[in-house]
Amino acid sequence: MDLSKAGEAVAAVKAGGLDGVVVADTALSEVDGEAGRLVIAGHDVEAIAGRASFEEVCALLWRVGLGAPADAVRPEAVRAAIAEGRVGAHARLSELGDALASDDGSSALRAATAHLGLRGAAKKGEAPWIEFAHIAGALAVFAAAWARRGAGAAAIAPDPSLGQAADLLRMLRGEPGPEAAVRGLDTYLVTVADHGMNASTFTARVVASTGSDTVSAVVAAIGALKGPLHGGAPGPVLDMLDGVGDPARAASWIDEELSAGRRIMGMGHRIYRVRDPRAAVLEKAAGELERAGVATRRLELARAVERAAEAALASRHPDRPLKANVEFYTAVLLDAVGLSRTLFTPAFAVGRVAGWCAHIAEGRRVGRLVRPASRYVGPPPGA
Ligand code: COA
Repeated sequence: MDLSKAGEAVAAVKAGGLDGVVVADTALSEVDGEAGRLVIAGHDVEAIAGRASFEEVCALLWRVGLGAPADAVRPEAVRAAIAEGRVGAHARLSELGDALASDDGSSALRAATAHLGLRGAAKKGEAPWIEFAHIAGALAVFAAAWARRGAGAAAIAPDPSLGQAADLLRMLRGEPGPEAAVRGLDTYLVTVADHGMNASTFTARVVASTGSDTVSAVVAAIGALKGPLHGGAPGPVLDMLDGVGDPARAASWIDEELSAGRRIMGMGHRIYRVRDPRAAVLEKAAGELERAGVATRRLELARAVERAAEAALASRHPDRPLKANVEFYTAVLLDAVGLSRTLFTPAFAVGRVAGWCAHIAEGRRVGRLVRPASRYVGPPPGA
């Protein structure tokens, strides 16, 4: 049988990015790309980042996602359950086989998280947000254990009396992090907690819509997050800053990259036509860290590179505003907090799992299989 003719049709397939297609109603977050505004469950991101803790934002998102009354998901209970998740995950590190052996932190996180489903993560009769909290806690433990393993060091047991940001830093460093760094990391986790129908959140919702379990949906979301067009950009942003080195070289460096046909990481966004509001939140948080004396002095360089990139992109794409996105200052902030660049994307997952779980819950309430259509452009049978 000759099956070669379908191969020619492949060339006719155009990429579809679902630009502007509304795939769900949500009460969880709104991204206004024209105004540069991000609202998380009724709060501007600028109003909650740096003020609410990661646990408080988890409680808010999970309550809204579940459609539960305000007192049904209390922040203190969420904090305790996330801590319980860290303790449980640490106890199971020896059962992960080679899951943490990957050179890539996101791949390790994906493999380790998959183990949570082996015994069934959710207990019967338990409120669904407890499973969300256990998964969230586990992600921090896996990320820290992977980083320490890479450095040839043993994993450090969590301290359940601490919040997620403080304990993540502690598990990475082997000692408590400076207060300013803890605050910076907490601000980061809140800033990235949810962001409309981004690719990983959509992935989680699609998987959950089939009736599949929460762990499977989160594992799939981690897989979507790790790509450089989504959550994989901040490490390369730091590489870029290192490559530029001196603010005076920013314009020529950017020009060379663009002339070579490469994209500038941390610039551009599918939705935002102005600067990503999260870039401003994270830039400010990085500035506070510098003032507190815990940070390396990359901020000035980053600002120069951003200015050069924005100008170069504007001249090459006058009709398509391409400004800094969340990843640009994520790189500066997480570096200042003391995370290695290989951990940036796993840290993104530690924050975004809040939104993934909330969307999984919201999608389950809708209860409808997500199953879009495609247009067949191949040859007709017998042609
Ligand atoms: N550097 C250089 N050129 C860029 C660019 C960037 N960061 N972002 C977009 N462009 C260019 C594209 O090459 C395209 O040019 P063309 O029309 O000549 O082919 C044009 O701008 C439109 O880009 P498009 O691919 O339609 O935008 P998108 O909505 O699909 O892409 C991103 C959005 C985020 C994927 C894209 O801006 C990007 O790749 N950014 C860098 C990676 C990054 O920072 N990811 C984190 C996102 S939060």
